[in-house]
Amino acid sequence: MGLQAPRGTRDILPAERVYWQYLETTARQILDRAAYHEICTPIFEYTPLFERGIGEATDIVSKEMYTFNDRAQRSLTLRPEGTAGVVRAYIEHGLHSQGGVQRLWYLGPMFRYERPQAGRYRQFHQLGVEVLGSADPRADAEVIAVALDILQALGLKELTLMLNSVGDREDRSAYRQALLDYLTPYKADLDPDSQERLDRNPLRILDSKDPRTQAIVKEAPRLLDYLSPRSRNHFEQVQSLLQDLGINYQIHPALVRGLDYYTHTAFEFQDLSLGNEGTVCGGGRYDHLVEELGGPATPAIGWAMGLERLILLLRERPLPPRTAPYLYMVTRGEAAERQGLILAQQLRHQGYTVEVDLSGSAFGKQVKRADRVGATVCLVIGESEATDHTVQVKWLTSGEQVLVSQRELLSENWRSRFFASA
Ligand code: HAM
Repeated sequence: MGLQAPRGTRDILPAERVYWQYLETTARQILDRAAYHEICTPIFEYTPLFERGIGEATDIVSKEMYTFNDRAQRSLTLRPEGTAGVVRAYIEHGLHSQGGVQRLWYLGPMFRYERPQAGRYRQFHQLGVEVLGSADPRADAEVIAVALDILQALGLKELTLMLNSVGDREDRSAYRQALLDYLTPYKADLDPDSQERLDRNPLRILDSKDPRTQAIVKEAPRLLDYLSPRSRNHFEQVQSLLQDLGINYQIHPALVRGLDYYTHTAFEFQDLSLGNEGTVCGGGRYDHLVEELGGPATPAIGWAMGLERLILLLRERPLPPRTAPYLYMVTRGEAAERQGLILAQQLRHQGYTVEVDLSGSAFGKQVKRADRVGATVCLVIGESEATDHTVQVKWLTSGEQVLVSQRELLSENWRSRFFASA
């Protein structure tokens, strides 16, 4: 086996990481303003959490989990998503007993054994939110609005919000029977995956990408027609709140999502420019999951965004400018090198980014490197500057150059000049 990253995983090199940092900072700020609090849960959990939480018949549990036994023969699974772990932590730490609504968010790697392609990986990253303890349709509207804020702040423009209600368990079991009655006579015409789903998870057939199956499904009974008055009322209220917030949406009756825990509201944000893997965010209500995992009955709703997909879109645009001045220290000769090292450290303590050239090469070569790394200013200390404890300040954009004392460079006066040119 060669020394390569495993199939479906990828290294994020520094040139790409800056986009991730930008994404994380932007999202953090928006989540903070909406009073969401960060939570971190382990990357692996006991396997039954996902089997019970996500559902044994789902693709995720039946064929995509990274499951292994540890040395004590306990079955563990790398988390394929974040909701089950957050709910486990919510129950385990009694967060419900704090009363009120818990608004939580998380960011981290998830693992699914899927067929890799652009925008789909085996290790990928999700940013997610979970709001626990409210059945109010305002919670549905709020999480959707927060997701939209993040996607828009990142500059996504070709966004569509697809909305559906998958009803409650009772609505779904009535619908499931109607769907089975309709699809069973067509069994032989369905694609092989859908044939298999007919017994296990017929609702997922609605999601099939196969054109023949799609044509059959088009005429199938609609889940929306099987909603109880209570479910219908919730769905209508969510829509009316979204309208109040000026958020456009399309109702998509076939949107069922790939996890079993959903009830009522289900939604996805798609970005058309991404093609096949265009779903940048998916979520919904899951009013029974906390109880099913052993906690008190607690309605909840959340979503998760696939960050690799957002990065694909972000990378097409220029990077946002840096906020701190980037100074590049060019020195030659032993005394200059020592002074450069000390001055760099003092400047860092004042909030500048300072890179020291360690190459020992000619001045010209060092200055060229300063240009290449995108520095704002070059600080040059040669033999005569070292003798006088001065430094040449050279602006890389204008070429302007000034000789100042090293002490003067640390003054407030220079600080405002540098920050103005960052
Ligand atoms: P999900 O739809 O399975 O939902 O995943 C959410 C998002 O994660 C997807 O829309 C996609 O952007 C991204 N994603 C999923 N699989 C991959 C992959 N293999 N490679 C790259 N990106 C991927 C959930 O995970 C739910 N836990 C969301 C949720 C939270 N529902 C309620 N609360």
